[in-house]
Amino acid sequence: MLSQEQMARYQREGFLVLPGFKRADEIAALRARAMQMVHDFDPQTSKTIFTTNDQVRTIDRYFLDSATKSSCFFEEEAFDADGNLRQAKELSINKIGHAMHDLDPVFSAFSRGAALDAVAKGVGLEQPQIWQSMYIFKQPGIGGEVGWHQDATFFDSTPISVTTFWFALEDATLQNGCLWTQVGGHHGPLRERFVRHGDVVRKEPLDATAWPDSSTAVPLEVQAGTLVVFHGLLPHYSAPNRSPISRHAYTLHVTDARTAYAPTNWIQRGADFPVRGFV
Ligand code: FE2
Repeated sequence: MLSQEQMARYQREGFLVLPGFKRADEIAALRARAMQMVHDFDPQTSKTIFTTNDQVRTIDRYFLDSATKSSCFFEEEAFDADGNLRQAKELSINKIGHAMHDLDPVFSAFSRGAALDAVAKGVGLEQPQIWQSMYIFKQPGIGGEVGWHQDATFFDSTPISVTTFWFALEDATLQNGCLWTQVGGHHGPLRERFVRHGDVVRKEPLDATAWPDSSTAVPLEVQAGTLVVFHGLLPHYSAPNRSPISRHAYTLHVTDARTAYAPTNWIQRGADFPVRGFV
């Protein structure tokens, strides 16, 4: 449960850092399951690369279908000019997404429970709905940059309620590409919206407010087991990982069922696969 001070801080700054939220054994179980998924993944089924810097080029059927699957995506720099992997498959995957929290028992157990529900309530999510899960590898050497963005771009609702639950599965440092954010930046406007019409997706500009620069951005260096919870309007980014150490993280994107989830959001759920909360 969050204290009054933590709740006030979240409202003021747009994020909370909660060290020691997950135990080492919980992290080990999730990491082992993710590695098994990568082991089982056949690279020939898709060479989809994920980069938020050039969404349009990389969007394809595999990406759209991953809304309700557990799909592996390669790092942008995973392949050489001849289309061959530069390093082992296990060191080439950018992420797994986007429905493991509902499809896989190990991921579901990590993604749910009374403690998470209490945090959700504390930051104002009375009726939390978990739309997306991502296991992010941030591989050593080739882990790509994720440029400045707001997660509400991808999970619009009226009013905006999307909240990100970001779990450090390894220590996140300046060297291996920790999160950077702008304290209080969630008080600003939504800059872009990612909309889907059928199988066509595009990013629409909404507001020309500049992204933060290095004078106002702050790094969130956190230890494994830390939960960072942040507002969907909070600008954040992470630098490339040029270090020899990976930076595994796991994220959930959650809205409040009391708000109207946009029918143009790229992830939709039908009655056959309903969106669920933390308990
Ligand atoms: Fe994000």
